[in-house]
Amino acid sequence: MNTSQIQAAWKSPSNIALVKYWGKKGFQLPANPSISFTLDKATTETKVLAQKTQGGGVSLELYFDGERNKAFEDKMLGFLRRAETGFEWLKEHHLIIQSSNTFPHSSGIASSASSFSALALCLCSIDQQLGLLSDKDFFEKASYWSRVGSGSACRSVYGGFNLWGQTDALIGTSDEYAVNIDDIVHPVFKNFKDTILIIEKGKKAVSSTTGHALLETHPFAEHRYRAGFKNTATLLEILESGDLDAFVQLVEAEALMLHALMMTSPTPFILMKPNTLAVIEKIQDFRNQTGLHLLFTLDAGANVHLLNPENEDNRVQEFIKSELVGYCQNALYLCNTVGKGPEKINT
Ligand code: PMV
Repeated sequence: MNTSQIQAAWKSPSNIALVKYWGKKGFQLPANPSISFTLDKATTETKVLAQKTQGGGVSLELYFDGERNKAFEDKMLGFLRRAETGFEWLKEHHLIIQSSNTFPHSSGIASSASSFSALALCLCSIDQQLGLLSDKDFFEKASYWSRVGSGSACRSVYGGFNLWGQTDALIGTSDEYAVNIDDIVHPVFKNFKDTILIIEKGKKAVSSTTGHALLETHPFAEHRYRAGFKNTATLLEILESGDLDAFVQLVEAEALMLHALMMTSPTPFILMKPNTLAVIEKIQDFRNQTGLHLLFTLDAGANVHLLNPENEDNRVQEFIKSELVGYCQNALYLCNTVGKGPEKINT
């Protein structure tokens, strides 16, 4: 092997949280556990070429969609300097990083979860080529370093359903990395759908970093963290039993609590738009009329994630086309299913 130059490439997905991570303790550790599933189509492809230098610390060039991106480069450099403690070889390498998203450009959504997990996986692959990382520890280390980049990214290194954060409700859990929980998940959830309605494209008005920080002085923070722990334990039971009605209730309540926290923080902000609320009302009416298990969840933004079991998807897709597409910017929505997780790309 030519050790003066080593490369690795990964395609890694985004994920959608069912129980939300909102609020940190210490550095990049979650104030409560969270549970998500990995998406299949919303992915980032990242290729890292590491060139040996004389030392002096890590340096990089970052290209996004083929163009050098200085803003992203600064953010990545901060992360890579931290990562030097876990990947000692970084101190004597120059990295050329090339990244692109499979999210359609027009959707205006980017995901720090897919980009940081793709990067962490590349670093772990290089570590492995250098003989510094075993197969057994590979994904745990990738999850650990994804978290350091962006908390929710640690849940993207595996397919299916994943839990991040130490909880007595499940052995083997940790604040430092996520664990896969597919072996407890009922078949009804295995091919769940997530249709992302693009209500508003573009940059979020408030970054998640700012949002997490607001919890430090939030009057309801302690209550929220207790609810996050409780909902994690309850969702584990629901995922095991396959109780769809309980799933609908818990996941929607989590999404609304996330936005309620934003609206009641010391510096309040509202990320939902009128169309977000209009869609939520439509979903609840549809459910009442049909008895189907269509539900919504929200991220830190105005877009709505519609979730439903696979066997109800024909009816749901008809409903989206006839009733909901009009609320989407440029009639845009993205269809995802529970994904199989990151894929290594041959270089
Ligand atoms: O990973 P961050 O720091 O961007 O935080 C993500 C927070 C939410 O997406 C709102 C919730 C979650 O658990 O993914």
